[in-house]
Amino acid sequence: MSEPIVVAEGLHKRFGDTHALRGLDLAVPAGTVCGVLGPNGAGKTTAVRILATLADPDAGHARIGGHDVVRDADRVRAMIGLAGQYAAVDEKLTGRGNLRMFGRLYHLSRRDARRRADELLDRFGLAEAADRRVAGYSGGMRRRLDLVASLILRPRVLFLDEPTTGLDPRSRGEIWDAVRELVAEGTTVLLTTQYLEEADRLADDVAVVDHGRVIATGTPDRLKAAIGDRVDVVLEDASLTVRAADVLARMAGAETAADPAAGRISVPVAGGAVRLADVVRELDRAGMAPADVSLRRPTLDEVFLRLTDRAKETV
Ligand SMILES: Nc1ncnc2c1ncn2[C@@H]1O[C@H](COP(=O)(O)OP(=O)(O)O)[C@@H](O)[C@H]1O
Ligand SMILES: [Mg+2]
Repeated sequence: MSEPIVVAEGLHKRFGDTHALRGLDLAVPAGTVCGVLGPNGAGKTTAVRILATLADPDAGHARIGGHDVVRDADRVRAMIGLAGQYAAVDEKLTGRGNLRMFGRLYHLSRRDARRRADELLDRFGLAEAADRRVAGYSGGMRRRLDLVASLILRPRVLFLDEPTTGLDPRSRGEIWDAVRELVAEGTTVLLTTQYLEEADRLADDVAVVDHGRVIATGTPDRLKAAIGDRVDVVLEDASLTVRAADVLARMAGAETAADPAAGRISVPVAGGAVRLADVVRELDRAGMAPADVSLRRPTLDEVFLRLTDRAKETV
């Protein structure tokens, strides 16, 4: 079996006293989307910059398509595209002008740069705005142009650093569509995100990063399953929320999340130890009738909170 197209092994990186990466490992099989999920300061951008040959690790190794990102940086660069966290496009130029400029920077002939710019503008829904200055573009259009600029050389591996941070839902959806289209063509994508929903929607595998290392990996579904299902309860009488939460916490042997204003309680029911029926019976016994009880998978938000809590406990 060939090795994954993106591999990081024990990456370390310090900036003065800040230990940005502390032994980060990643493996992304070709043709898949890896979502690197973590809060601000987790080390996501540092990891992407190392993988994209823009920074060297202090320790550890990384390979793209089998090429070492430090020793074979040129080979790596020929395989990858990068859209950074902050849009790199020139405001004073038009969309088309930007793409032509990038084409030339990538050593395409004038003619090829032109042709590629037109092609990409058409494909990613930017043709209409192509001859307007980027200064007048919406945030979403700018990001899309930035993403498109990283595609000029038809990269096999694309790095997207927080591609939708700060975008409205519609623009976010447009970026997601563009990513899906690339993946359908066989591009491998590593994207960083702070949005659990984004990882859930796009990623085949998620690597949860906190304090410079991966604290959990798996498909979004597996991560959710590892945390266990939850039972959501809505009480008829919201004033009983705190008491009911107490009863349920004791029963489940775990912390519950309660919203006393809404009379809502969420109970983790890990490993099938507690069932929906148990919750109803327990509340009934305590004389607190639920208006609604439902079983559901945890959201990635809950998964993330649980995982980062746990990581803190072990530090
Ligand atoms: N060039 C730099 N100089 C000093 N500190 C840095 C630099 N780049 C990143 N850091 C620090 O390293 C940590 C990780 O940063 P970063 O990789 O940007 O995280 P993320 O992208 O997940 O928000 C942060 O504490 C950040 O302040
Ligand atoms: Mg970042």
